[in-house]
Amino acid sequence: MKMSRQRIVAGNWKMNKTYEEGRALVKDIVGQLQPSEILVVLCPPFLHLNSISGQIKDVRSLKLGAQNCHQEGAGAYTGEVSAAMLQSVGVEYVILGHSERREYFGETDELIAKKIDATLKEGLRPIYCCGEKLDVREAGGHLDLVAAQIKTALFHLSAADFEKVVIAYEPVWAIGTGKTATSQQAQEMHVHIRSLIASKYDQQVAGLTSILYGGSCNPSNAKELFSQPDVDGGLIGGASLKAGDFVAIVNSF
Ligand code: PGA
Repeated sequence: MKMSRQRIVAGNWKMNKTYEEGRALVKDIVGQLQPSEILVVLCPPFLHLNSISGQIKDVRSLKLGAQNCHQEGAGAYTGEVSAAMLQSVGVEYVILGHSERREYFGETDELIAKKIDATLKEGLRPIYCCGEKLDVREAGGHLDLVAAQIKTALFHLSAADFEKVVIAYEPVWAIGTGKTATSQQAQEMHVHIRSLIASKYDQQVAGLTSILYGGSCNPSNAKELFSQPDVDGGLIGGASLKAGDFVAIVNSF
């Protein structure tokens, strides 16, 4: 079953890299990446998208992603960027619902559901992030919380639209902390997510959904995490900022 799913490693640069630094990082990644069936998605800040789009256009396994977009198509929303604008510079993926957007920008799953619709309308593929905070896990509520997030943000979609969604399970306590979920914790949650999808849609849709793990994933732990049957890749923050580390993670399958 796993082999039929797309394996993906996405790099979330967050708010890092000046224009020139970003171009240099992409040049290094392109230089080190071996051709493979792993899909590699670079998600730099908006500023970089157009330029990186040109840098990677001839590299089949490299795709471009954004870190957010606005839920409306256009209009008086100062400082925002629409899905159509992203599409117009070659973006194919959009990270939505990242825990930092939830924490610092007040994003709720109701809002994220609208952003999911906006991206799908433009033919973009959302990378939907979900995951619990430490207190929720310690109280044993992590499975229910992630189920509620996914239901609110995604389960209004038709099966045809849902098939375009990539899910990233990112336990908040593991993001940027150096504390990784164990491969068993990741596998348990990924199985849970897949069974939720199967009960809402069907086994086939569930079996084809790529579910990534995110949270302090690095070259030393990626192999163990990616060896789990339901872990289809990673959403990488800190380690995506160094070409050598990022490519080592891609090579960990
Ligand atoms: P991290 O971030 O790899 O730095 O923990 C992952 C993410 O936030 O997507």
